[in-house]
Amino acid sequence: MINFNYISTSEKQTQLLGQAIAQFVTKDSLLLLKGDLGTGKTTLTQSIVKEIDSSIKVKSPTFVIAHEYRSELLIYHVDLYRIEDEIDFYDIGILELIREDTLCIIEWPDKFIDMLPQAYIIIDIEIVDDVSRVFKFLSKGTIHDKILKNIQSAVNAIIKN
Ligand SMILES: Nc1ncnc2c1ncn2[C@@H]1O[C@H](COP(=O)(O)OP(=O)(O)OP(=O)(O)O)[C@@H](O)[C@H]1O
Ligand SMILES: [Mg+2]
Repeated sequence: MINFNYISTSEKQTQLLGQAIAQFVTKDSLLLLKGDLGTGKTTLTQSIVKEIDSSIKVKSPTFVIAHEYRSELLIYHVDLYRIEDEIDFYDIGILELIREDTLCIIEWPDKFIDMLPQAYIIIDIEIVDDVSRVFKFLSKGTIHDKILKNIQSAVNAIIKN
């Protein structure tokens, strides 16, 4: 388990954070984004995906549950906000999107954490004020620990600059 916090004081800084994350996530990473409405989960996802492939425009998946983006990585961006219960979770087939050949980014994983694979990076985002957010990173599993260590180094480099 690796964990650390990062404070972003602007949307631009959150975008830089996304760029740093994009350097290290791999074709089989699972990224869980937790946090209230309007904390920046979709904003962060947009910058991660844009860094992987600048031609991709990420839209919020709130109403469609999942978007698929094909680039050199196969990316799924999922929003579980509107999923009510475990039955819906299994029926919709979310687990089939989390595979060894997919980068899967999931907003609102809260209710379903125990049903997801137990190897992931989770980012818990909290609002400080209009323009500031705390990003609390935590990893589970050795592969995601390694990825998060690399992200931590890159984030430290952003802080120094
Ligand atoms: N430091 C910051 N980082 C990210 N977003 C910020 C920051 N400061 C202000 N914002 C604003 O917060 C909002 C975040 O919206 P976003 O859609 O990314 O949230 P979300 O967590 O995906 O919400 P939802 O749960 O409704 O899907 C945007 O309007 C963005 O401009
Ligand atoms: Mg969102």
